[in-house]
Amino acid sequence: MADDRCIGVFDSGIGGLTVVRELQRRLPNERIVYFGDTARVPYGIKSTQTVTRFSREICEFLLRFDPKVIVVACNTASAVALAELEEMLPVPVYGVVEPGAREAVLHAEGHTIAVIATEATILSDAYRKAMAKYNPGARVLQKPCPLFVPLVEEGRHSDDAITRAVVRDYLEPIVRLDPKVLVLGCTHYPLLKDAIAEVTGEGIRLVDSGEQTARVVVERLTALEALSVRTMKGSLSCYVSDNPQRFKELGQRFCGHPITDVTWVPHEQFLSHDAPSPVV
Ligand code: DGL
Repeated sequence: MADDRCIGVFDSGIGGLTVVRELQRRLPNERIVYFGDTARVPYGIKSTQTVTRFSREICEFLLRFDPKVIVVACNTASAVALAELEEMLPVPVYGVVEPGAREAVLHAEGHTIAVIATEATILSDAYRKAMAKYNPGARVLQKPCPLFVPLVEEGRHSDDAITRAVVRDYLEPIVRLDPKVLVLGCTHYPLLKDAIAEVTGEGIRLVDSGEQTARVVVERLTALEALSVRTMKGSLSCYVSDNPQRFKELGQRFCGHPITDVTWVPHEQFLSHDAPSPVV
């Protein structure tokens, strides 16, 4: 059995492309349809109700492409909206929190785990709850790093002086508490990995929840016998709620290759159920 339908992926902006990069590396023949909610980013400082509504609307949009699964490539949406999405969607839906939590517990071997994420993700306590399933006694420190997403969305690199100062300010107090593992609990954060690793040093293992999610998606699709058997190279079609040009430019850094197929979806078309299905 095989399934040549696409994989739907979404994030509040460009951060989810770090998950796409990993999916493409592992599944080069799959077609991926990505939605980046660039008009409404950031999600991490918004309420549960608002992030859940945005996530529902995006999934309804992605369903027009007839995806075989949807990947919530946003920790904030996974932390606050995944249960509702699982209930409402007619296809399997995978979030990024659970895979990262599992990996962190595995490597921590009973030592302290630190989680950095958006304010909404930390407030939801989703990582601590997910880790408790694998180790009820897990020691988990959590810290919001609200300036990281705007830095990344602004295109600032790891070697930028402001980025490095902000990373130091957030992470030095964590490093002093001597965790064994640090979870990058936001899909934007892998873009700052070099600056983060400079502060954490070699003694702290960094867990990228996006990488782990891609691994889980491959496992699940394999188990469902739903991998594509197309022999042609896969594709990436991106839809954004604002500023496609900017998405193209920044997205290239996230994906590691140029992103050519980016379409702006005006709000009325995004919400309209009558709109014709976009053809991929
Ligand atoms: N990339 C998202 C996450 O993983 C959210 C960033 C934001 O919109 O605040 O949490």
